[in-house]
Amino acid sequence: METFLIHGGRPLSGEVAVSGAKNAALKALAATLLTDKEVELRNIPDIADVRIMCDVIRTLGMTVTERGKVLRIRRTHEGKKEVPLSLGARLRTSSMVLGPLLARYGEAVIPNPGGCRIGARPIDRHILGLTKMGAAVRYDPHDGYFHAEASRLHGVRYRFDKNTHTGTETLLLAAVLAEGETVLENAAAEVEIDDLIAFLNHMGAKIRRTKTREIVIHGVPSLNGATHSIMSDRNEEVTFALAACVTGGDIVVRNSCARHLDVFTKLLGECGGKVERVGPETTRYAAGTGYRPSHITTAPYPGFMTDWQAPWAVLMTQAHGVSTIHETVFESRFSYVAELKKLGADISFFDPPVRDPERFYNFNWADRIQGYHQGIRISGPTRLHNGILEIQDLRAGATVVLAALAAEGESMVRGVEQIDRGYEHIEIRLRKLGAGITRRKEDV
Ligand code: EPU
Repeated sequence: METFLIHGGRPLSGEVAVSGAKNAALKALAATLLTDKEVELRNIPDIADVRIMCDVIRTLGMTVTERGKVLRIRRTHEGKKEVPLSLGARLRTSSMVLGPLLARYGEAVIPNPGGCRIGARPIDRHILGLTKMGAAVRYDPHDGYFHAEASRLHGVRYRFDKNTHTGTETLLLAAVLAEGETVLENAAAEVEIDDLIAFLNHMGAKIRRTKTREIVIHGVPSLNGATHSIMSDRNEEVTFALAACVTGGDIVVRNSCARHLDVFTKLLGECGGKVERVGPETTRYAAGTGYRPSHITTAPYPGFMTDWQAPWAVLMTQAHGVSTIHETVFESRFSYVAELKKLGADISFFDPPVRDPERFYNFNWADRIQGYHQGIRISGPTRLHNGILEIQDLRAGATVVLAALAAEGESMVRGVEQIDRGYEHIEIRLRKLGAGITRRKEDV
């Protein structure tokens, strides 16, 4: 186990380049299974989840050659049609090979996907869609695997009951080589999905987003090779923006994707942070002199993303007054609250009134955790102090690091492997911005 030692209270300033988006790169890697031709993916982030996903596609017959941030990928051998538990349990997107394997070989076996434990995270909406396309999918509780078969996937008009980001991508990946036209209604609109659509279209797929929440796919017999550059990581940019604001700093972000962050940048400005578009792909984020409280409700795109609420909470500990956060996408994404409280944050849970929870919440209401609250109240401003902090998931990890950077004194953050899943060499980049942060192997 590794830890970060953080000497907080130093303003972060300077320039940082945002990496390629984890949640676009992982899906592009799954998409390479759809062709026998060579694919070149650029701007790939150097993170643990990408390394695991590369191992997944290697098992399935691909050879991956790495040169810096560029991956060359090509099918070179008869791979398995099954993702081993040792890989699948570590990564949610391992399930995204279902579509390509079914479309190309008519069979796929995948373990119940792992990844960040921020709720039950079932894949029922993915499975239902695949079933409508002609797949037979069976979950075997004895071995913990989904067993899927299809003689030929066919196009379908499928309406997602509720928003699902990876579910939309799973059906896209299944539909590109299916027979006929697929129309996905109530499809998710996250921009990472459009990055995947662009890549698939470069490979010769015929996909159009016809309305904000509708995607039409004309199945094609085969796909070519292509070169594609992965979009910037919105979540990383938000993390650096908040790092500037909570430490009293001033950070210029290169490879900025601020055009996809309107909801975030507008709110940050309203609450007292400084946001300046310096160029088309350069944005400056700086601390204000005092922060105003906010009331946010997380939502699928184009709303305030669930991934941002945890780091946003750190800023709200510095706001003058009471802020609220209502998490509506996942049923348990407040693991960081106990950690922030260790640093002195004044946070309490509450149950926001909701008339029809099954319709309102993005998760299946049946998956709710009895006694878990979907709302928190943060009273500020609080002078945060040091502490020993534990990380439960990726975004919670970034959150506790931000809090420790803002706090006075030396903090220890345990379980940094969670952060390595999605942030590229975070401590090295934070150090270049002036942070007092070092990585240590924990003594046992
Ligand atoms: N859900 C179901 N059944 C399904 C699909 C989803 O109940 O078949 C539930 C989920 O459990 C969740 C809600 O519906 O409560 C929304 O899930 P969605 O499918 O949209 O999320 P996801 O695809 O599992 C992706 C990102 C998340 C990001 C969300 C929201 C990837 C690999 N993950 O998750 O990113 O928070 O969309 O945009 O793309 C992260 O990067 O740290 C992360 C968790």
